[in-house]
Amino acid sequence: METTDLLSISDLPAYDTKTAAAASRPKTVVILDYGSQYSQLIARRVREAHVYSIVQPYDTTWPEIVKHQPVAIILTGGPESTLAPDAPGLDPRILASGLPILGICYGMQLLARNMNGLLAPIDHREFGPANLTIDHQQSHLFFGVPTTSRVWMSHGDSVILMPQNFTALAHTDRCAVAAIGDTQKKIYGVQFHPEVFHTEYGNRILRNFLYLIAGLSEDWTMDDFVANAIDDIRQKVGNANVICALSGGVDSAVAATLVAQAIGKQLACIFVDTGLMRKNEAEDVLAAFRDILHLNVIAIDAQERFFDRLAGIEDPEEKRIRIGHEFIAIFEEEAAKLKNVKFLVQGTLYPDVIESKTPGSKAGHKIKSHHNVGGLPKRMNFSLIEPLRSLFKDEVREAGRVLGLPQAIVGRQPFPGPGLAVRILGEVTKERAETARHADWIVTSEIEAYPGLLPMPWQYFAVLTPLRSVGVMGDGRTYGNLIAVRAITSEDGMTADWARLPYDLLEKISSRIVNEIPNINRVAFDITSKPPATVEWE
Ligand code: XMP
Repeated sequence: METTDLLSISDLPAYDTKTAAAASRPKTVVILDYGSQYSQLIARRVREAHVYSIVQPYDTTWPEIVKHQPVAIILTGGPESTLAPDAPGLDPRILASGLPILGICYGMQLLARNMNGLLAPIDHREFGPANLTIDHQQSHLFFGVPTTSRVWMSHGDSVILMPQNFTALAHTDRCAVAAIGDTQKKIYGVQFHPEVFHTEYGNRILRNFLYLIAGLSEDWTMDDFVANAIDDIRQKVGNANVICALSGGVDSAVAATLVAQAIGKQLACIFVDTGLMRKNEAEDVLAAFRDILHLNVIAIDAQERFFDRLAGIEDPEEKRIRIGHEFIAIFEEEAAKLKNVKFLVQGTLYPDVIESKTPGSKAGHKIKSHHNVGGLPKRMNFSLIEPLRSLFKDEVREAGRVLGLPQAIVGRQPFPGPGLAVRILGEVTKERAETARHADWIVTSEIEAYPGLLPMPWQYFAVLTPLRSVGVMGDGRTYGNLIAVRAITSEDGMTADWARLPYDLLEKISSRIVNEIPNINRVAFDITSKPPATVEWE
């Protein structure tokens, strides 16, 4: 980046947007990722606006960017300061391209810095909500946005001298330049995050950029995503064979169906009964995939293997890693029985990726190893196919509908790859798994049978804790375990709130659990949101 930063903009040829736009279907927005935890959220908002986008690392070379024939560019936020000596830069050919550009947060500061504006650190870094006041109401960027509205800020530097030909479009109480624009060149920057839920008119602002400024229209849908994914899978796989891990959750169901539509009989699905499934899950999953979807499914009863591997293990990460390894060992054994298996399909979603590791930037911490991401061994005999890796849960459900999956499968609540193991605190044994499964079944069936529950929780389950407490049953003392009930509302599992379940429903669940399950004498209801908690207890 540094060498190209030194080039003079006027030396560079303009990029012919008309030719590129005409040649490309659908029209592509390139999102250059500077490491913000919200980068994929920007992509999601663009998808919601029915515009096609791809996220590329910030240092993607200009010739690589041109290959995508972009019609607009978005620069994301990032954890760095543009004032740092080694701050990620911006290729001047992007600015000279003639393409409409929107810089968000760090992206706006980069625009300002590269167009001869001046930035300086602010006294108090500004995080969280702020009131935005629009100073140029006639700007296309703010079409339909009231003069004042709530936005979400997260920055430590501010623009103090406007870049050439730019106008300051808006401010907040603590940020004099909260949005900038060069109307002629169609280059805009916003200091706040329009992509996050907390920015009241964020979607409107992004859509104004896409539709009014970049001239894009709604020409991309989930059907296109599915069609592209099918093409990509065909090209990648060639005539090799592929295996897919079915877990019983909606993600692996959608991933498997997508791959099956791409390569038909080259796909074999493997369903491993770990002994950590929900009640009737193994039978239901097999029936759905074999009889309704007509997938080629190999069922493996590996219950004893998993319980052996988990014996004596209490540490949550160690459990996840062991389960991930055992899964892969089984797939490798099964693949060896088949011929020419080169790929493994997994239903990994974006939230799994972002929480399992740092997604290619300095931002972000590991929260837990989602077993289909962080728990995989470093050396594997397969290449991975993860067609849903950029999607959020509700988008996966939409993709499932496009693929024609029945509501019974698309509407299933999420179930983690490691299964009940992450809901059994302490050692996982066959007996404890049976207790957790029984409690889970009571919670699930009572919630699903409750008339008119609105909103229906997004996910609901029981957690077996190792805590013991004193109780009284009949006339005798008991010293049993505590079951926790968790029910959450959420859009995509990234954030969640606890579901306000009716008292009579909670009462029924509690009384059934203590009456029907031996050694359980107490039930608690989890009233924590995510953050600060996570959805699963481990
Ligand atoms: P957490 O506990 O991370 O859960 O807040 C967020 C969502 O992800 C699911 N989850 C997993 N899904 N493999 C999966 O496929 C995993 O290892 C895993 N761990 C959590 C969880 O059920 C919730 O929907």
